[in-house]
Amino acid sequence: MSKGKRTVIVTGANCGLGFESTKYLLSDKIDEWHVVLACRDESKGKQAIQQIVEIDQEYASRLTFIELDLADLDSVRNFVTNFNQEKLPPLKALICNAATQAPPNISTTKQGYDIVFGVNHLGHFLLTNLLIPHFAKNDEINSIVNVTSDTHDPKNGTPVPVPTYGPVDKLIIPPQETPKRDSRYATSKLCNILFTYELKNRLDKSDEFKNHFRVNCFNPGFMPETSLARYLDPKLFNMIVEGEGKKYRKPIANSSRYLADLVNPQLDKVSNGVYYDGNEIIPSSDESYEVSKQLELWEGSKNLIKTETDFIL
Ligand SMILES: NC(=O)c1ccc[n+]([C@@H]2O[C@H](COP(=O)([O-])OP(=O)(O)OC[C@H]3O[C@@H](n4cnc5c(N)ncnc54)[C@H](OP(=O)(O)O)[C@@H]3O)[C@@H](O)[C@H]2O)c1
Repeated sequence: MSKGKRTVIVTGANCGLGFESTKYLLSDKIDEWHVVLACRDESKGKQAIQQIVEIDQEYASRLTFIELDLADLDSVRNFVTNFNQEKLPPLKALICNAATQAPPNISTTKQGYDIVFGVNHLGHFLLTNLLIPHFAKNDEINSIVNVTSDTHDPKNGTPVPVPTYGPVDKLIIPPQETPKRDSRYATSKLCNILFTYELKNRLDKSDEFKNHFRVNCFNPGFMPETSLARYLDPKLFNMIVEGEGKKYRKPIANSSRYLADLVNPQLDKVSNGVYYDGNEIIPSSDESYEVSKQLELWEGSKNLIKTETDFIL
């Protein structure tokens, strides 16, 4: 059975938006994606594959699980090594989708950085930088999509506390106790956008990589059926779902389709270096366009990674 024509890596593909997008990517007969489910828990990753194969047996040869714990930079490096050993179809897309919202019992990553910043931004920052040289350079465009959230923008008035950006050496410090109203998630989602715009700039300036990549960020909208709010008080969460959250709610079937379409190399109409709100391009927050913050996040993150050889941009 065919492994597919091209490979896409989806982080956090075992549930929620990542899982739904994986199913949609596989159903696209033209692109014939091979999907790498980059997940931290092997049993959950393999269970997800099992569920998908039950839909269609033919998908079995187009799915690979590779362990990735974004809360551990060594795991990120091992992921890239293991990915290269798999000898899959050419790498054409990366969807940085995984995220966490203030887990109550874990405050830091393995390297001692705040868990929300570490998983939602820093792990993906390293992963992306390590993978860039491994993308195929052919006539087809490569795609990177960073899944963010409308909570990054204070103007949206979402019920989640607004971002409080930087500098990086402050963002890495976990709060003493998990606060009731926690801005770390929205801040990390702002980081996803600052990172996207700076990545686009750096790719454009690189003789080797310019014209080979399309880099965007994507807001799927409020999807209460995913596991993202697993650590929230269920009563509070239900109040949000039934109250203020209603106007932000988006069907996950649409969001997963829009996300998958952003990495489709056949779709010329997809832009580069923009913020997609569902299938619409809109401006992201004013703060996300601040070049000084884009640079500070990049350089600050790079300093945390410490190994200069990890970076070619
Ligand atoms: N749901 C919404 O309303 C909403 C709104 C706007 C934006 N988003 C964004 O949509 C994306 C997907 O979220 P979702 O709603 O689908 O949530 P979800 O169902 O909780 O999925 C999150 C995924 O991230 C994974 N993950 C968490 N920590 C990880 C780590 N240390 N290493 C690797 N993977 C890790 C989870 O794995 P485990 O299952 O092992 O924990 C899970 O697979 C996120 O970027 C989120 O910010 C969601």
